[in-house]
This record gives sequence, C-alpha cells and structure tokens, in this order.
Amino acid sequence: MLSATIREDFPILSQRMNGKPLTYLDSAATSQKPQRVIDALVRYYREYNANVHRGIYKIAEQATQAYEASRVKVAAFINAPRPEELIFTRSTTEAINLVAYAWGRANVRAGDEIILTEMEHHSNLVPWQLLAAERQARLRFVPFDEQGMLQLHEFDRLLTDRTRLVALTHQSNVLGTINPIREIAAKAHAAGAKVLVDGAQSAPHMSVDVQALGADFFAFSAHKMCGPTGAGALWARYDILDAMPPFQGGGEMIMLVHLDKTTYKDPPYKFEAGTPNIADCIVWGEAVDYLKAIGMQAIRDHEQRLTVYAMRRLGEIPGLRLFGPESPMRRGGALSFELDVAHPHDVAQVLDQDGIAVRAGHHCAQPLHRALGVSATTRASLYLYNTEADIDTLVAGLYTVRNLFSPKTATAPKP
Ligand code: ALA
Repeated sequence: MLSATIREDFPILSQRMNGKPLTYLDSAATSQKPQRVIDALVRYYREYNANVHRGIYKIAEQATQAYEASRVKVAAFINAPRPEELIFTRSTTEAINLVAYAWGRANVRAGDEIILTEMEHHSNLVPWQLLAAERQARLRFVPFDEQGMLQLHEFDRLLTDRTRLVALTHQSNVLGTINPIREIAAKAHAAGAKVLVDGAQSAPHMSVDVQALGADFFAFSAHKMCGPTGAGALWARYDILDAMPPFQGGGEMIMLVHLDKTTYKDPPYKFEAGTPNIADCIVWGEAVDYLKAIGMQAIRDHEQRLTVYAMRRLGEIPGLRLFGPESPMRRGGALSFELDVAHPHDVAQVLDQDGIAVRAGHHCAQPLHRALGVSATTRASLYLYNTEADIDTLVAGLYTVRNLFSPKTATAPKP
C-alpha cells in the first residue's frame, strides 16, 4: 500500500482550479512534481549552475558530477547494463528520432520493412514515415482487437527476413494496453530484426528491465515520472551505439576536429552534441530517487487497484464506452472513453469547471482513434498520487455532463 500522505509531497495538488480542489487526472500527458524535485531544480540554479564536461572550476565539476550521477541513476532505473548506454535527449520523441536518423539511415535500405502497430503515438510513427519515404522502405502495421490487444498472429505474418526493425509502445497512452514486448522481441530477433520500445508510458508506472524485455532501444522521458520537462533518454545496447553514426554534430561530441574531417567520442557523448539540458537531466535523478524510495511495484499495485475501481465506477455511467483491455493485468491506468451525449472536448470543458483535469482529443494517436472508429476520446490517466476520491469526483463530474447534455435522461451516481 502506498502511504496516504503521498499527495502532500505534491504542492500543486493542494491548489484549487476554477474554485474547486484540483483533481488531476492527466498524468499520461505529464505528471506532477514532488517538492524535493522542485527543490533540486532550484538548488542547481542557485548553487552550482555551470556547463558540464568543460570547466575545471569547482561548480563546473559539481555540475558535471551531478549530471553523470543522474545518468547512472536513470540507467539503473531501467536496469541498463552500463550507464554509457544511456543518452540524454530532450524527450522520448527526440530519442526515437535519434534512432530513426542515426541508426535508420545507416541500416534501412530500399525494400526493407519496419513493423509498427496501429496503437502508436505519432512520435513512434512519423519519424519512421520520414525514414521510409527517404529510403524507399515499407511500414507494416500490427492491428489491435476490440479489447485493445495486439493481434500477434498478424505480427507473425508481417515478420519476415525483410524486417529491419520492430518499433512499438510498451504501454499505450490511449488504451492503457501493456504489450508483450519480451515475446515480440524474441520473435523479432529470431528474424534478424532490432526492437525499439517506446517506454514513455511504461517507465513511470512499472518496474522496467530493458535486459529482461530483450529490447535493443528503449526511449522514455523525465516529465511523466515526476521529473522536469525537457529531459528524455535513449537506452541502446553499447555495440549498437558504437556502430551508429552521430545524430547531431557540434561541441562535446568530438575527439579531434579538422577543417575537413572529425573523429567522435565514444557513446554516450557521441550522441550529446552541444550543451545538454543540464538542470533537468540532473533533477531527473532526484525523481528516480523519489520513485525508487516508494517502489515501482508498489506504484504499479496502487494504480492497478485504482484502475479496477475506476473501470467499475465508469462502467456504471449510462452511455459511457471505455476503450482498452478489460483485464487490469494487461493494462495501465490510462482510461479513454466516449460518452454518447457529448463530444470529448465538451466533456473535458465541463469537468474543468469542477476542477477536474483530463485530456480530450486524439492524444497524438490519430490512426489509433481511426481504428476505434471515433475521432476523439476523453482520457483520465492515473498516477501514484491519485485516490478513489479522485475517481468519485470524476464520476460525479461525468453525471453532471450527462445531465447537462441530456436533461431528459437525468441520472445520479450510485451512493
Ligand atoms: N503523449 C502524451 C499524452 O498522451 C503527451 O498525453
């Protein structure tokens, strides 16, 4: 069980929104930050703001040491074998683009295929579209069934000796589906393909072990796991990184520069051109410490319990259709739904009046929504600081929406 006082770690949660206590249910978009993470950010700027890997004065060494210490923590968080395999980026999106540009351009040729799924976030779709168009490669897509589960027999059919890469989300940001990465990776490797996992929605919510998953690339970011925005990471096996050409060129990624040629540093520095996002990368380490002290399994258990409760309560609302797996074992706490009487944007707007923050729209996953046969959904997404009381507030808010848009069929939540 998580401590009942966890909410007190997050100062924003004691604020009011539109005159009501804030009910924050949009952690799949970004998580809230505990006070110690906020303090660590201020401490960096107040006490040791300096560029890294350059200065030989005290605070520069302090900043470098903290930046590298954070790399070690973030790498250990996903059980990476070596911290040098962890490249700091700006975001999950940038981490995936790094692979598409650096690895993709060196390894994907005309006629090659990349397998994606129909539930991908645009960030794990558009970079591959750009690469495929440039290299005359082909994208293939694994569909999902009415439960929001990948149709693995289709994956088996699509996987051939032309497949160079299988790139898929670990946990869907819309359906909540947790995909069977280990099984998919084993098959992909047997076919000679590499595997990229979009971990933006899994790393914050469960214990991730990139070695056990069998991934070759794992992309994730700080801001969805209690850390600051603007910091992300790509993990990849060292031999793959070593063989990859650089992504961006500039300062700090070089060994020797001549007017006509350059030699590069070893990973990870080869892929970290220019001044990195020092402050946010350092503070990410603080967020890792915070989550680890609570325990990722405890967080997963809490969210699973809450998801079961939310699914039951949402299921009581007339005209509400919830998407994604019914089994809480197969899903995380992203709960996307449609309500027959109102458009998702109207739902979100009315909920906002009650201090409830949810996301409405296509959630950067238009093909997924097309496959569901809807243009948009409303999404409530859970994290460690949410409680059953938040779900009750959401459910009450959804009855308000129903009764506003369909007064003739007015109903009330069960007591
Ligand atoms: N990818 C984030 C979301 O699903 C922004 O909301």
